[in-house]
Amino acid sequence: MIQRITDLRDYFKQYDKSIQEPEKFWAKIAKTFTWQKKWDKVLKYNLHQAEVNWFVGGKLNITENCIDRHAADTPDKVALLFEPNNPNDAPTKITYFELYEQVNQLANVLKAQGVQKGDRVCIYLPMISQLPISVLACARIGAIHSVVFAGFSASALRSRIEDAACKIVITADGGKRGDKVIDLKNIVDNAVNDVSCVECVLVVKHTQTKVAMDELRDKWLEPLIDRAAKTCEPEMMDAEDPLFILYTSGSTGKPKGMVHTCGGYMVYAAYSFQQVFQYEENDIYWCSADVGWITGHSYIIYGPLLNGATSLLFEGVPSFPDYGRFWQVIEKYGVNQFYTAPTAIRVLAKQPSELVEKYDLSSLKVIGTVGEPINEEAWHWYDKHVGKGKCPIVDTWFQTETGGIMISPIPYSTPTKPTFATWPLPGVQLVLMDPEGNEIQGKSVDGNLCISFPWPSMARTIWGDHQRYIDTYFSAYPGYYFTGDGSLRDQEGYYRITGRVDDVIIVSGHNLGTAPIEDAINEHPLVIESAVVGVPHDIKGNALYGFVTINDHSQDKEQLTNELNAYISERVGPIAKVDYIQFTNGLPKTRSGKIMRRILRKVATGDLNQLGDTSTLLNPECVEDIIKGKL
Ligand code: WT7
Repeated sequence: MIQRITDLRDYFKQYDKSIQEPEKFWAKIAKTFTWQKKWDKVLKYNLHQAEVNWFVGGKLNITENCIDRHAADTPDKVALLFEPNNPNDAPTKITYFELYEQVNQLANVLKAQGVQKGDRVCIYLPMISQLPISVLACARIGAIHSVVFAGFSASALRSRIEDAACKIVITADGGKRGDKVIDLKNIVDNAVNDVSCVECVLVVKHTQTKVAMDELRDKWLEPLIDRAAKTCEPEMMDAEDPLFILYTSGSTGKPKGMVHTCGGYMVYAAYSFQQVFQYEENDIYWCSADVGWITGHSYIIYGPLLNGATSLLFEGVPSFPDYGRFWQVIEKYGVNQFYTAPTAIRVLAKQPSELVEKYDLSSLKVIGTVGEPINEEAWHWYDKHVGKGKCPIVDTWFQTETGGIMISPIPYSTPTKPTFATWPLPGVQLVLMDPEGNEIQGKSVDGNLCISFPWPSMARTIWGDHQRYIDTYFSAYPGYYFTGDGSLRDQEGYYRITGRVDDVIIVSGHNLGTAPIEDAINEHPLVIESAVVGVPHDIKGNALYGFVTINDHSQDKEQLTNELNAYISERVGPIAKVDYIQFTNGLPKTRSGKIMRRILRKVATGDLNQLGDTSTLLNPECVEDIIKGKL
């Protein structure tokens, strides 16, 4: 078992140890797991080349640690709980022993379809039991899973399938979200049409939606599972073999397939889950994120299961059948740790307070947030109405790239402070950088957030493009990992993440790159060019504001706006819709032709007094024009 941090002194002690003797620190934690072969060396790295190896030479299978250990010790303990979209439908439970059998069965099905170690499998499923089971079945046989959030469009799905050359896609006939049904199989059909790498689409029957089945390519999953054997030997994996690919938006170009590996990811997901949520035996833990994001990978599936926890998955949305749903679910299961996003809290805080007051939330011990900065008002509402002033709030900062939580209070050890993610977890060495690339020392300062030493769950590369990995994360500050975020460090050394310093915009907790949205807009025949920036928004954190240059201004603007959003929905997904679209005659450019987003951001937020020097622009006259047209 991983030793839990017990109080503030213990946190400092563990933190110091992790910095002074990192290899010894992580080896001690890694030893609590089942390894087929012990590692020869704990850490080998060169951050300039973005080369990082943890537990070198070690052999393991993460599913043995997630499942087999607990299926042997506590077979009847519930591993996963499923709360369906409709509260009147029956929930399901899967014990550790049942999980063992079901994962093995699907693993055998995948093998029978010709999936081998190292092959990529795309998983495009709603939040139903087959989603974590598919993830674990891939891991069981050493196939690399690439989960794509089932809210992404066909073309976003297609580009991810093609990028990783996935052999199999696992999907469902449909997904339920509140009173809507999403035709997932239909979307997959559009995505894989003419995609030669995909040999087989496995389909889960869930919504009973009528779907077209391609005789040669598509198969219903259930009958195959029913016939499959319930044991499957775990594939022996090298600690540095890829476990999964998960795509995240970049500020430019196509999405980046972040690659996480077996050994280090396992150790850090388990360790961070244990420390941040202080999970105790028999607790019920609930993270409301979707498995399609890193939060779901690490803190719905891997982190909890590695610790033998009971993890709840919720298929629905916070607004169905009404805005009390989250609180009803907490009462129903007696949830002890609840983990959600600031955007959800902001929406729920706007509802009549009896919707939360009428439920018994006294089971809660720890409540958490992730995905974006939490504003002061939302923090206090969460504290008062959900935590009832007695549950520590863990404001957890991390990224798809970091694999696990890097900054967070340790409940009942770290004194919390509204809007501060507080201190790094043991093993995490943070630094703030000034624009010249010097480390900023001391307190009450702000700068660009970097990490100066490897941690076990860091992404190892971008699938198929290691140079891009180096360029994106290790070249701004050679020898350091650059997060892309700005941060404050206050007089107590507490960190508060202030937001992205690049062209990634976090909308409702979704990490959106501006490039794919602009590409979608630019495909419209009337559009010449476009730039999308973020503006502060009460509920979503940020909203999207697009500047779109068109030649013909006689068009109906409302209709054109709708058309552009339809383009975005189709090419990126509905989550990327632009809230405000301003039509322009031109965009401010530098002499080298780069769009000056800094100026557009200021116009969009109404910060017109501080536009800075516009005289060096190629076309300074267009700024005036844009200010006049501001929405
Ligand atoms: C970006 C990473 C981490 C899982 C979900 C998002 C922002 C994340 C916080 C927080 C302020 C946060 C950062 C980060 N972010 N957590 N607690 N406070 N900002 O994963 O899609 O890879 O996005 O989310 O800007 O860089 P992601």
